[in-house]
Amino acid sequence: MYVPENVIKNDDLKKVMDTSDEWIQERTGIKERRFATRYKDTTTTMGVEAAKIAMERAGTKAEDIDFIIFATLSPDYFFPGCGVLVQRILHMKEIGALDIRNQCSGFIYGLSIADQYIKTGMYKNILLVASETHSYALDFSTRGRNVSVIFGDGAGAMILQPAIDGEEGILSTHLHSDGNEAELLSMVNPGFHAGRFAEEKKPPMPDKPYGGLFITEDLVAKEDLYPYMDGPAVFKKAVVKMPEVINEALEKNHLSSSDIKILIPHQANLRISQYVQYKMNLRDDQVYNNIQKFGNTTAASVPIALCEAWEQGKINDGDLVCLAAFGSGFTWASALLRW
Ligand SMILES: CC(C)(COP(=O)(O)OP(=O)(O)OC[C@H]1O[C@@H](n2cnc3c(N)ncnc32)[C@H](O)[C@@H]1OP(=O)(O)O)[C@@H](O)C(=O)NCCC(=O)NCCS
Repeated sequence: MYVPENVIKNDDLKKVMDTSDEWIQERTGIKERRFATRYKDTTTTMGVEAAKIAMERAGTKAEDIDFIIFATLSPDYFFPGCGVLVQRILHMKEIGALDIRNQCSGFIYGLSIADQYIKTGMYKNILLVASETHSYALDFSTRGRNVSVIFGDGAGAMILQPAIDGEEGILSTHLHSDGNEAELLSMVNPGFHAGRFAEEKKPPMPDKPYGGLFITEDLVAKEDLYPYMDGPAVFKKAVVKMPEVINEALEKNHLSSSDIKILIPHQANLRISQYVQYKMNLRDDQVYNNIQKFGNTTAASVPIALCEAWEQGKINDGDLVCLAAFGSGFTWASALLRW
C-alpha cells in the first residue's frame, strides 16, 4: 500500500465548510484521511509506489510481470488509462495493460480477472493495482460536504501468481451489478453522454451537431463537474448486498462465517462495516477496518486494509480471508482467499 503523506483531519475540513469532527466521526467513523500533493502524486504514481513494494515482497522484478490490471475511477488522463503509464514508469516489457472501471469493487473485479488468467495458464505474474486521487475533484464547500468528507487518496497493489499448493489462493470470486440506479453515486460530467439520460434535455456540451469543447462554460458556471452521491440510498443498498455476496461466497465453498479468519470489507463507512459484521455474526477480531485513518479510498480501500491487516500479523498462512465491496454502478463483489 501507499498513501500520500498529507494528513487531513476533520478539523481541517471544518475550516472550509460547515461540518464538525463529531458529525463526521459519528456518521462515518472517519478521523482523518490522506490527500495527494499537486505536481507530485497522481493515481498512477501512487499505484507505482504500491506496486514497487508488492514486487519487492513477492520477490518479483518488473521484467517478470506479464500483465497489468489497473482499477480506478480517478485516472490521470481521460485516456489512455493508468495501466500503460505504470508500464512506462516501471520499464516493463510490452505486456498487456488493462484498465477497469468498477469503482469501489474495482479491486475485487480485478482480482477476479487475474484469477481467471492465472487459472487458464495465460499469465504467471500479474500486477494488480488499485489507486485513487479523489481530492483533486471534490467539492470542498458546504454544498458538497456529504461527499467530500468521506473520500481519501491512496493506492494498493498485489502480485498474483499460480498457487504452489492446490489448497492455497483464491477459492472463488463473485461479481454483481445493477445499473438501474447508476446515477445515485456518479460523476457524469464531463462525459460523452450528450444529456441522453438527463431529464433536462440540455447536453453538457456545445449546442451544435458535432465537435467543440465538451466542457462548456455553462457546466463550469453551475459547477456541475463534481461527484454526486445519494448517501442514504447507497447505505441502504450496501447493507443488503454486502452480506448477500459474502454468503454467496461462503455457500459456494461450503463454509460458514465462523470459518472466516478475517473479513476485509470495502471501507465505505464504518457504520456499513459494523452492520455487515452484525448481519454476518462476526466477532470484532474477524473484521478489519481502517477507514478511521484513510477515509474511503474507493478501489484502493480493500488492498490498503488487506495490506495493513497482514502487516499487523492478523493474516497467516492457511487463514481464510474474505474480501467484500459495494459501490457506484451499483456494483458489488466478494472473494474468498486461502492465504
Ligand atoms: C453520507 C452519509 C454519511 C450521510 O449520513 P446520513 O445519516 O445518511 O445523513 P443525511 O445525508 O441524511 O444528512 C443528514 C443531515 O446531515 C447534513 N450533512 C451532510 N453532510 C454533512 C457534513 N459533512 N457535516 C455536517 N452535516 C452534514 C445534511 O445536510 C443533513 O442535514 P439536514 O437534516 O439539515 O438536511 C451516509 O448516508 C453514508 O455514509 N452513506 C453511504 C455512503 C457511502 O458509503 N458511499 C460510498 C459508497 S462506496
